[in-house]
Amino acid sequence: MIDRKVNRRSVLRLTAAGAGVVVASRYGVGAVFAQVPPLEEKDTYTIGFAQTGLNNPWRLAESKSMQDEAARLGYTLVETNANEDTAKQIADVASLIAQGVDILIFPPRESQALAPSVVQAKEAGIPVILIDRDVDHEIAKPGEDYVTFIGSDFVDQGRRAAEWLVEATGGEAKIIQLEGTTGADPAIDRKQGFEDYLAGTFKGTPTPAGAHSGMEIIASQTGSFTRDQGRSVMQTLLQSNPDVTAVYAHNDEMAVGAIAALEEAGRTPGEDVIVVSIDGENAALDAILDGTLGASVESSPFFGPIAFETMAKYIAGEDIPDWVLVEDRFFDESNAGEFQGKQF
Ligand code: AHR
Repeated sequence: MIDRKVNRRSVLRLTAAGAGVVVASRYGVGAVFAQVPPLEEKDTYTIGFAQTGLNNPWRLAESKSMQDEAARLGYTLVETNANEDTAKQIADVASLIAQGVDILIFPPRESQALAPSVVQAKEAGIPVILIDRDVDHEIAKPGEDYVTFIGSDFVDQGRRAAEWLVEATGGEAKIIQLEGTTGADPAIDRKQGFEDYLAGTFKGTPTPAGAHSGMEIIASQTGSFTRDQGRSVMQTLLQSNPDVTAVYAHNDEMAVGAIAALEEAGRTPGEDVIVVSIDGENAALDAILDGTLGASVESSPFFGPIAFETMAKYIAGEDIPDWVLVEDRFFDESNAGEFQGKQF
């Protein structure tokens, strides 16, 4: 879990003193950045946007949101696609730094692996805003190495999924957990929030009454946030865990894949296996309305407006918190019809 309870970011400052690394940067050889590099006011900007992949509706919606907002503002968005390959995303960020973009705004695929890339951007004099996923704060710190993290509280998303599942199953369930991409911030935190809530050790609000001892996680495996893997992993886990009565998927795509696997195996999702997930995509709302998915905690991909608004505040020298929290809604049978077809 990334500890986001860090101090508020310091005022940005370009300084030749203090901690920093001497590098060849857009401010010249020898520039040293003790703080996040500044971004001067200009008529237009070139933004480096290193996307993790474009293999699901969530990623496509996020890219479109960034493209639309950049176009609206008349800015140039240089987008790369790492095809869900962490090494490729590291190389993409290095390439965007070498191209001399004005700022990097991107979701780091894995929290530890991409943290050095954030530091490299700082050393090159390029400010970074992280959207949707964060990096490991032991390696790169918001307000010091990068401007801020804009995104959801993933731990709380896991807690909300667990709370709903306890209620829906009467506190008795044998659960299969389908985890997101290994090493990704949302996968780590969604697992922790869910498991801590069930164990009665959740730290936050609301404080759980105690352990939910009837809720047993019988298997937990990554499905890499994809529908195909959600389906194939579920097929495999069903063989060894035929007593499953609930599924918690870290995103909707894996839940939709798991529902297909359950149906192929002659199970009835929504009746003998209760499914809960995260994101709130259109396919999930459809599944809620047909009764196969119980609920989905929202995790919005529409980062364009808030990312560029934060960038404008940074240019203006406003104080920006280390974490710009995105509030999430909750979708279940009571409101899925209202949002059906309006998500992504
Ligand atoms: O980082 C956010 C997660 O990444 C979304 O929940 C998931 O669907 C996406 O792949």
